Amino acid sequence: MNKGFLSGFLYLFCIFNIFRGEPRFLNPCLDSVCLSQTVTYKCESGSPFLLRWRVLDTNGRQYALTVAYIDGNSISRIDPIGNEFTTVLINTTGVIVSTITFTAVININNYLIECGPDFITLVNCSIVIPDILPAPVANPLTFGSTHFTFSWSPSTGQCFTNYAVSITSSVSNVTYVTNDTSLVIPISKSFNDTEYSVSIGAVDTGGRYNSSEVIRFTPNVPLFVTNLMLTQTDYPTDTNETVNITVSWNEPQSSSRPPATHYKIQYNISNEIQNKSTNVTSQTLSGFSVGLVYTVSVEAVNVLGTGTVTSATITIIIATLLPPETSASVSSLTSYIISSTPSTTQTTPSVSVTEGCNCASSTTVPIVVSVSVTFILTAILSSTLSIILTLLCVRSRSNKPVEQVKPVEQVKRDEGGTTASVAVYDEITTTKGGATSSVPLTSNPAYGPLRN
Ligand SMILES: *[C@@H]1O[C@H](CO)[C@@H](O)[C@H](O)[C@H]1NC(C)=O
Ligand SMILES: *[C@@H]1O[C@H](CO)[C@@H](O)[C@H](O)[C@H]1NC(C)=O
Ligand SMILES: *[C@@H]1O[C@H](CO)[C@@H](O)[C@H](O)[C@H]1NC(C)=O
Ligand SMILES: *[C@@H]1O[C@H](CO)[C@@H](O)[C@H](O)[C@H]1NC(C)=O
Ligand SMILES: *[C@@H]1O[C@H](CO)[C@@H](O)[C@H](O)[C@H]1NC(C)=O
Ligand SMILES: *[C@@H]1O[C@H](CO)[C@@H](O)[C@H](O)[C@H]1NC(C)=O
Ligand SMILES: *[C@@H]1O[C@H](CO)[C@@H](O)[C@H](O)[C@H]1NC(C)=O
Ligand SMILES: *[C@@H]1O[C@H](CO)[C@@H](O)[C@H](O)[C@H]1NC(C)=O
Ligand SMILES: *[C@@H]1O[C@H](CO)[C@@H](O)[C@H](O)[C@H]1NC(C)=O
Ligand SMILES: *[C@@H]1O[C@H](CO)[C@@H](O)[C@H](O)[C@H]1NC(C)=O
Ligand SMILES: *[C@@H]1O[C@H](CO)[C@@H](O)[C@H](O)[C@H]1NC(C)=O
Repeated sequence: MNKGFLSGFLYLFCIFNIFRGEPRFLNPCLDSVCLSQTVTYKCESGSPFLLRWRVLDTNGRQYALTVAYIDGNSISRIDPIGNEFTTVLINTTGVIVSTITFTAVININNYLIECGPDFITLVNCSIVIPDILPAPVANPLTFGSTHFTFSWSPSTGQCFTNYAVSITSSVSNVTYVTNDTSLVIPISKSFNDTEYSVSIGAVDTGGRYNSSEVIRFTPNVPLFVTNLMLTQTDYPTDTNETVNITVSWNEPQSSSRPPATHYKIQYNISNEIQNKSTNVTSQTLSGFSVGLVYTVSVEAVNVLGTGTVTSATITIIIATLLPPETSASVSSLTSYIISSTPSTTQTTPSVSVTEGCNCASSTTVPIVVSVSVTFILTAILSSTLSIILTLLCVRSRSNKPVEQVKPVEQVKRDEGGTTASVAVYDEITTTKGGATSSVPLTSNPAYGPLRN
């Protein structure tokens, strides 16, 4: 070795030591790295002579070989560290600069990348791969008439890519991929009476996911309708008349069954099956004959088919076959025509009394009715009238025949501590065919005992 070389070397060594700075990464280390993500870190060694790359494994031991670049290596030189890392020499003018590039795979999780001019002065970046994303929380399924909707809580994970909806059954296993937080699935006939399992996972960039709780359901035709009611709407006096009935029901329970789109109604008129279809839960049916018993059946229909039948029976009755307690209380009135028109009667003010009628001056109270053998009053009108007449205090103040009921005064009485208001009316005069007749109020059992 000659002296000149040695002194020159020492001189240069001193210069380089003076110029040497601290190593640093020229781009920041990432807190975490998603699987499949490619990352490049650029390091400036701080030395014009040397740059070293070293990777440590999860146990802090050196992984594969180290790489060292010196001034004089050709720019763009590429070197591997194991299969996962690639280093490139970028610059040797001034301090040495190099990059390291890797694509994240699970086996380099928690590895450490080190860079520096030697193995003492180092900077490092650790590789942190986030855990599998937590499974979204599945919401209960909702059923439309032709589809069902599955929805879930959103995922906020950094490495989220999409949702995987798994729908499995004995007939098919399908996984839907979506970015939305809900999925609408059409229901076809093949779903009928087959158990399906639905679950959801939030897939990360590595394709990993944990599945949510599994929701199981078995689509089927509707259950039976409930609360089926048949109601006769009119009560004829002529047994030859046909009547209407209303049929009403409540929609069937629909848990995991697509809702009903419409209802089928069947009933027999003269041994011919009548078919009606409706999308609401009540219907008026006509053509029912007095004295006969009818069965009406209702079935709910959904996209999968027709549900279980529900039936009810009704006996069609005429006005005189009303329940006994009603007919007893109006028996003496149903034989009469009372000429006060229904509309007038219905507009009389409502009267509230706590006891029977007690009118001071009504000694002779003629109620003028004409006698008829025809049953005209409907059950409703009869009972309404009987109630009104029972409550009315009817007295005569003039002999002038009137054809309507008019309230003339209202009095308030105290009766045993109970205040009751009583409307006092002009006499009720009824006519038929010009003939009039008077019936003393005392003789009519409908009014109860008269008091003075
Ligand atoms: C290398 O570094 C020198 C000095 O910092 C700079 O002038 C030059 O442009 C760099 N070359 C490359 C290829 O980055
Ligand atoms: C990585 O660098 C930090 C400072 O940036 C240091 O505290 C830590 O000890 C280093 N880790 C290892 C394993 O050298
Ligand atoms: C994912 O599922 C595995 C196995 O069931 C479980 O050990 C892990 O804790 C789950 N991870 C998350 C984030 O839910
Ligand atoms: C769907 O997967 C389940 C179990 O994962 C299996 O029992 C079933 O037979 C599969 N169905 C089809 C149609 O492949
Ligand atoms: C989800 O969103 C990403 C980014 O917007 C898009 O590239 C991808 O195709 C979407 N996937 C689906 C299944 O829509
Ligand atoms: C009912 O009709 C029959 C024949 O259709 C007739 O003989 C009878 O008189 C009718 N009855 C009434 C109350 O109208
Ligand atoms: C019976 O129903 C028919 C048709 O639904 C209607 O035209 C008729 O007015 C109804 N009759 C009564 C008494 O309500
Ligand atoms: C209607 O009548 C037919 C024959 O009388 C009978 O077979 C059928 O069960 C009846 N249907 C209903 C809904 O009552
Ligand atoms: C009603 O449907 C039945 C079969 O469900 C059919 O036999 C009957 O003729 C239909 N009735 C009418 C009036 O169309
Ligand atoms: C029933 O059907 C009519 C027309 O077909 C539609 O306008 C109505 O919204 C439906 N009602 C219900 C309760 O589905
Ligand atoms: C659906 O399944 C139910 C129960 O097994 C069955 O009664 C019904 O007929 C089926 N409907 C159709 C349209 O296949």
